[in-house]
Amino acid sequence: MPRTLLGIESSCDDTAAAVVCDADDPENRILSSVVVGQNELHAGFGGVVPEIAARAHAEKLDVAVQQALDAAQTRLSALDGIAVTAGPGLIGGVLSGVMLAKGLSAGSGLPLIGVNHLAGHALTPRLTDNLPYPYLMLLVSGGHCQLLCVDGPTQFRRLGGTIDDAPGEAFDKTARLLALPQPGGPSVEDTARHGDETRFRFPRPLLDRPGCDMSFSGLKTALLRARDGCIAEHGGLRETDRADLCAGFQAAVRDVLAEKTSRAIAHYLESAPAAPWLAVAGGVAANQQIRAALESKAREQGLQFTAPPLRLCTDNAAMIAWAGLEKSATEAPDGLDLSARPRWPLDSTAAPMLGSGKKGAKA
Ligand code: KG4
Ligand code: ZN
Repeated sequence: MPRTLLGIESSCDDTAAAVVCDADDPENRILSSVVVGQNELHAGFGGVVPEIAARAHAEKLDVAVQQALDAAQTRLSALDGIAVTAGPGLIGGVLSGVMLAKGLSAGSGLPLIGVNHLAGHALTPRLTDNLPYPYLMLLVSGGHCQLLCVDGPTQFRRLGGTIDDAPGEAFDKTARLLALPQPGGPSVEDTARHGDETRFRFPRPLLDRPGCDMSFSGLKTALLRARDGCIAEHGGLRETDRADLCAGFQAAVRDVLAEKTSRAIAHYLESAPAAPWLAVAGGVAANQQIRAALESKAREQGLQFTAPPLRLCTDNAAMIAWAGLEKSATEAPDGLDLSARPRWPLDSTAAPMLGSGKKGAKA
């Protein structure tokens, strides 16, 4: 008999609830997955406003949970537990989810399972593809960028990550500097299609240093200078300038991610995994050039490659329910003293990363 959990996610700007079971066939696992976005609430502010996000989560979470239960044609009393994102993320949002989950757990008597949001992303390839441990994961989104060796449901080794901005954040800033629509990833990718990536040679930060750490904050300064150079030369930005700037920027991000991932692959292979896999997750995994570069590095170095479907790469509660299923198979549930943690590194032995992304604390 499969076990079934309710998952709750509210760590950033998506209010999400899902019902997921541990059926053998991945096709039969997600019984429902509801995501209520908040884009329009934050649109006028150029980024996520934590207080607005927290209030919207508090208003929408119970509705999302009821929708998820209805869509799965089930009731709370028929489930085996409640998994909730307990961090890392924006504290007000995480608190909203944790308080709701505690209330539901106290009222129903169901076990409560606090889940690390990043573990949700990192375990998604097991939900979708039954990937065997250990596998290598590049988690790359608007708020996160980490290379992880995933050894078990709560065992992660961080091989590297960004020391400042996340790549998605850099795409968003680039779009803002070039007056392209948000979110920046898709609009920069589109504009880059007609561009010449060799016209502007943007820096590839930290490639000259050993290791898998990355940096993307210097790229936006380089882009700003190149943009202002174009404006000074031609009295404004021409379409070709915009396309070449986007292509040059995208190529720089692609090259850094591909090279650092390649180094992480070499490190991962030293432990001689029986079935080596590279998985990528997060919104930036939607970028075709970046995805193709990662896939080709993986293949060159003898790994299989997977990227979950985009709706499961971006924030959702199905991944939280799944991480809860995996965690609760080996660990005792949490008590009603479960705390919300704005910072919660996956690998507590790794040195903390510097900086903090636009969408909350890095971990
Ligand atoms: O995973 P996600 O939905 O949210 C979190 O950050 O948690 O990722 C959103 C980020 C945004 O910064 C967006 O610009 C970026 O992913 N993104 C892309 C593409 N599609 C979305 N970046 C590059 N290329 C894309 N096609
Ligand atoms: Zn996320």
